[in-house]
Amino acid sequence: MSQLWEQSIRVDLERFANEGLHRKLTAVKRGASPYLTLQGRKMLNLSSNNYLGIAEHPAIIQAQIDASLQGAGAGASRLIVGHDLQVQELEEAIANFKHTESALVFANGYMANIGVLSAILSPTDAVFSDRLNHASIVDGIRLSGAKHFRYRHNDMNHLETLLCKADEQGVRRKLIVTDTVFSMDGDVANLSKIVELKKKYKAALMVDEAHAGGVFGPRGEGLCEHLGLAVDVDIHMGTFSKAFGSYGAYIAGKRVWIDYLIHTCRSLIYTTALPPATIGSIRKSLDCVQEADGLRLALHEKSDYFRSALQARGFNTCGSSTPIIPILIGDGAKALAFSQKLAEHHIMAVAIRPPTVPHQTSRIRFTMMANHEQAMLEQAVDKIAAIGKELGVVRHV
Ligand SMILES: Cc1ncc(COP(=O)(O)O)c(C=O)c1O
Repeated sequence: MSQLWEQSIRVDLERFANEGLHRKLTAVKRGASPYLTLQGRKMLNLSSNNYLGIAEHPAIIQAQIDASLQGAGAGASRLIVGHDLQVQELEEAIANFKHTESALVFANGYMANIGVLSAILSPTDAVFSDRLNHASIVDGIRLSGAKHFRYRHNDMNHLETLLCKADEQGVRRKLIVTDTVFSMDGDVANLSKIVELKKKYKAALMVDEAHAGGVFGPRGEGLCEHLGLAVDVDIHMGTFSKAFGSYGAYIAGKRVWIDYLIHTCRSLIYTTALPPATIGSIRKSLDCVQEADGLRLALHEKSDYFRSALQARGFNTCGSSTPIIPILIGDGAKALAFSQKLAEHHIMAVAIRPPTVPHQTSRIRFTMMANHEQAMLEQAVDKIAAIGKELGVVRHV
């Protein structure tokens, strides 16, 4: 029997390789730093989500060390004895940061999304989700069994058509869910229109600010706060693993939502609480992010430079307006070859291929950090352009 399994698994793996979709784990050192080490070689790191560059901030590391002295693990789930006083204090600080009544810490963004969506939605509800939303949103919706209406990426007419359709079907409750910054395209949701539609069709709204937290907003609250729309959001989700340079995630909103999650959210209830060290580092990074105006400015300046320089060299940057800057390649094998050539030039930028992105939209996804050196970015643009020409991705340099 296990032979049958192995045979069919081998067939699938061969197919992945033939289609240019082969994946492997690559061991690096200091992957959150502007320069990482790969097989002993120093590389410019254009692939980390450590946008503000604070994952190696001495104060955050020290807070993590101090908190770790309480023990290596939390020892229990939140509803047993894993709800340490420090967790409570952190959740109050998050609610204050997000200007909401209440907040909950989760193990990570994936667990927050699958847990929350599967807890609040039932098969009689309808959920409206952008086609490019993160996989954890898709998985949470699937787990819930709710009627799943996927609207074309950022297509507000399509969203409205689907909202009407659900009303015609007599759906009881409606939820719109969207990433605020899309993780593979680096573009942003049309939040003002989404809020308008949410009000018109009496839906609730959940936003995933994973890539916007720390990056947008006067104190790094996220894109909704930046646009003055945070009050119109019912469920705010964000992670501490990207611009916050740490690990974990939060859900913030009115107390009634949070109370409901404490009763029903399986990825909160049936898992051990985060270790004290992680809680300590999140608490410190929350302070650092709020004080990081200078880093935010540097991040946006570098992103604007890099994006326009690539566009000027003829690359399609997929609607990016954030520190996530992809260049569209199309074919998976070609994207992989591009990434390998970049590595030969000491640039780490991975190829993103299906199923992470739609068929024939493979790309190189560059991410900016506030502490990237401008001169290195300029050199990188020249090398990227030369490879683009060599591989026939762009016509001129
Ligand atoms: C939009 C989005 N949501 C959720 C997640 C999951 O967050 P985490 O890495 O904390 O599990 C990610 C990325 O990892 C993401 O890009």
